[in-house]
Amino acid sequence: MELNIALLAGDGIGPEVIAQAVKVCDAVAEKYNHKINWQPALTGAAAIDAVGDPYPEETHAICAGSDAVLFGAIGHPRFDNDPSAKVRPEQGLLKMRQKLGLFANVRPTFTFPSLIDRSPLKRERIEGTDLVFLRELTGGIYFGKRGREDNGETAYDTCTYTRKEVQRLARKGFEMAMKRSKKLCCVDKANVLESSRLWRETVQAMEKDYPEVNVSYEFVDAVAMRLVQWPNAYDVLITENLFGDILTDEASVISGSMGLMPSASLGESIGLYEPIHGSYPQAAGKDIANPLATVLSAAMMFDDFGLLEEAQAIRDVVNRSLAEGVVTEDLAEKGKARKTSEVGDWLAKNL
Ligand code: IPM
Ligand code: MG
Repeated sequence: MELNIALLAGDGIGPEVIAQAVKVCDAVAEKYNHKINWQPALTGAAAIDAVGDPYPEETHAICAGSDAVLFGAIGHPRFDNDPSAKVRPEQGLLKMRQKLGLFANVRPTFTFPSLIDRSPLKRERIEGTDLVFLRELTGGIYFGKRGREDNGETAYDTCTYTRKEVQRLARKGFEMAMKRSKKLCCVDKANVLESSRLWRETVQAMEKDYPEVNVSYEFVDAVAMRLVQWPNAYDVLITENLFGDILTDEASVISGSMGLMPSASLGESIGLYEPIHGSYPQAAGKDIANPLATVLSAAMMFDDFGLLEEAQAIRDVVNRSLAEGVVTEDLAEKGKARKTSEVGDWLAKNL
């Protein structure tokens, strides 16, 4: 197979973790006789510095013309501490999601047997956890009407959803549930919010199309609690944009390191694959960041190309690196930490 993949390294540790994923993908391509044409493009603070736009038109053209996008991280502290900044790196990410139509963000949470004692949660609570969030990604309060009134003394953001937006996300959720344990949880705040009532009503109406799927409806505050109490109670969860943003950070703690969890953002055609961690600016350029979330995101990409064996080969070699302790400082025993680039080299060599 010949694959054209847009490569958006972005900010902070982005370039370092992306470089390791490229090594691993190239090793997969060599082993299984594929050809990957990498198409690097600018995004985030790096793109603001170069051309004044965090998601330039040229980058969009490269992404839209590719089979998939592999993405590092976005964000820079010099913007976080400046509420008056006119352009922010994060706007690039939001614009990219919107322009590429990436409405479904798939964020799995699972545990690694060799790391279970690294989780701040007790072993007996998290053993066997294997759940996946489908977060709506191009609607809700992230993209609703916002502004200031009253000479700037009042601010508002609005959460708007259409039935169609809920349906297309929920459909992906039902389909995923059918392939897994046929359990779906719709997370909302229907006791308070009108948009949540639309979610609930829409999902309820879809249940008849998937009679085998067991659907539960839970309020987001209760899910926030149960997620760390009994993560095993969940399998596929669907939710709106902001709830999903918050809950998936919370869920990442279960696995023991944020440096491990991959994600995919899907639309009608193209997919974008990225680690769920951010740009971790304190570690940028130090060759210490954990590249595994990015490498595992590449595995999700191979899955979506239908290259299941290739994806599994990546997951297998990642598991071996964890079991053998070839890991970065966030996971290593004292004095045994490997550099980001060493982990990447090891994975590519042992694949
Ligand atoms: C995420 C991030 C982004 C979001 C930020 C960087 C805009 O937190 O992908 O979860 O809020 O969606
Ligand atoms: Mg987030």
